[in-house]
Amino acid sequence: MTLTVTEIDRARQDPAVFADVLLGEPLWDHQREVLASPARIRSVLAGRQVGKSRTLAVAALHEAFRQSGRRVLILSAGEEAAKRLLAEIAALAASPLLRGSLVDEGKSLVTLSNGSTILSVPASEKQIRGHSVDLLVLDEACQIAEEIWTAARWTIIARPGSRILMASTPYGRQDRFFAVTWRAGEKRLLHRPAEGHESWRWPSTMSPLVDQTLLDMWRSNAVSDREWRQEVLAEWVDEAGSYFPTAELEAVTADYQLIDPATADGDLVVGGVDFGFAQDANALALVGALEDGDLNTDLHPHGWVYFVAWVEENFAMPYSQFARRIIDHGDHDPSVWKYRPGFTMRHVLAELNGPGTPVVQSMREMAAERWGYPRAIVGVNTTAAYKENAFAQLRLLIQQGRLLLPKSQTGLLRQLNNLEFETRDSGHLKIAVPERLGHDDLALSLAQAMAAVKPRARRWQDRPSGQPRSEGEVMETLSGTRIHARPRCVHDTRAFTAPRGGDGRDEF
Ligand SMILES: Nc1ncnc2c1ncn2[C@@H]1O[C@H](COP(=O)(O)OP(=O)(O)OP(=O)(O)O)[C@@H](O)[C@H]1O
Ligand SMILES: [Mg+2]
Repeated sequence: MTLTVTEIDRARQDPAVFADVLLGEPLWDHQREVLASPARIRSVLAGRQVGKSRTLAVAALHEAFRQSGRRVLILSAGEEAAKRLLAEIAALAASPLLRGSLVDEGKSLVTLSNGSTILSVPASEKQIRGHSVDLLVLDEACQIAEEIWTAARWTIIARPGSRILMASTPYGRQDRFFAVTWRAGEKRLLHRPAEGHESWRWPSTMSPLVDQTLLDMWRSNAVSDREWRQEVLAEWVDEAGSYFPTAELEAVTADYQLIDPATADGDLVVGGVDFGFAQDANALALVGALEDGDLNTDLHPHGWVYFVAWVEENFAMPYSQFARRIIDHGDHDPSVWKYRPGFTMRHVLAELNGPGTPVVQSMREMAAERWGYPRAIVGVNTTAAYKENAFAQLRLLIQQGRLLLPKSQTGLLRQLNNLEFETRDSGHLKIAVPERLGHDDLALSLAQAMAAVKPRARRWQDRPSGQPRSEGEVMETLSGTRIHARPRCVHDTRAFTAPRGGDGRDEF
């Protein structure tokens, strides 16, 4: 059998035609869609056996085929996987129409007659070094280490039009590169995929080969729910155990501007401080009651809407310097004649545990001097139960759509999303404040601030009628709560409560 020039030309341009005509194995619809996408970075989150590896193999072959001298690098999670993929490519390349392809198993290399090469190797630094490629392919990307990704990205930098294609069954944390990249290209409500990115989700059931009877049988007994969701539905299961699921966080997230302490105009806030130990940062979160005029009267007629007015984390900053910084952000008594910009910090909660006690003491002294109000600094003995209550309050406000989070603070959002819960024997949900998850300092500082927020406080006051200070476009979160692009704080101390400091009580 021979092909006409037109057919070959079409096969060069279209991977579907290539698979059909040259490989003799047509692509399935979901595979075709991915291979037809012009996006530079394509990510597929998929269940087991739905045809990921095949898709990658065809993509690699097509890239090599369509022009001479192309270079393709395929990284797999391990030696075994790399060999399997190489074998799959070799088998496809054995099609009589791709005559002249050479397979060198020792070098893990397939060379087509046009001089293009495909290298399929396990993901390791050694394998990546020195390569410059047109197409970088990652199979089971969730299992590939972060450093490898960092190194691998450079392999495409020198070649014009170079692209990345990766696929994986969900696994592990969602702040890892695959999850992050996948989300960047995700198509969902109110989310524009990032420039050059496109992502897909393939549950196993998309494969015409998957045996529905077998799946149903599995579902009813053989696999756990967790496994089912991960392996078949291609869902992140840590999401399922996440104390703050992404959807809940997104419902209260808006792209508003934080209030820069340097321009704060006495805005009334309460704050939480988390002192970093070994690798953690020192973190501060400030929460205000939103000056929202009539924006939220319908949705929240009687209660305050709160928002994160400011957050920051500082790595490798000595405690004393961090304490000074917090005090400098505040100006408790902004009278005209000694005006300084800054927040009015009603209560700032900081833990006494660990390095806390002396730092809290010195913060009080500084607060006395600068604000004339040392009692604003509250030392707290945090216990596991205390933290749980703090997070429970945070979650309650989030679920009610009454605490808004800044979209720009991805670190905070990610940290909240990474907190997991455990179900206790009693059936209660217990937030696992994880030591192992790395940085959770921002999440903890926000939770800390919750002890000074009074969610049940009734909003007696008429909505302010005078000049609103919040400015800019009005945005509506998915929860329906509205906020200005440049929000300000209401000056009403009744929105907050004075936590009893230092007594280690768990309730508030
Ligand atoms: N377009 C296709 N036409 C025919 N068979 C296909 C096609 N795509 C995939 N297959 C077959 O479906 C099965 C699963 O494909 P593949 O190994 O690519 O899936 P996978 O998602 O990588 O699976 P795993 O999760 O085990 O890694 C294989 O037997 C493969 O040969
Ligand atoms: Mg596979």
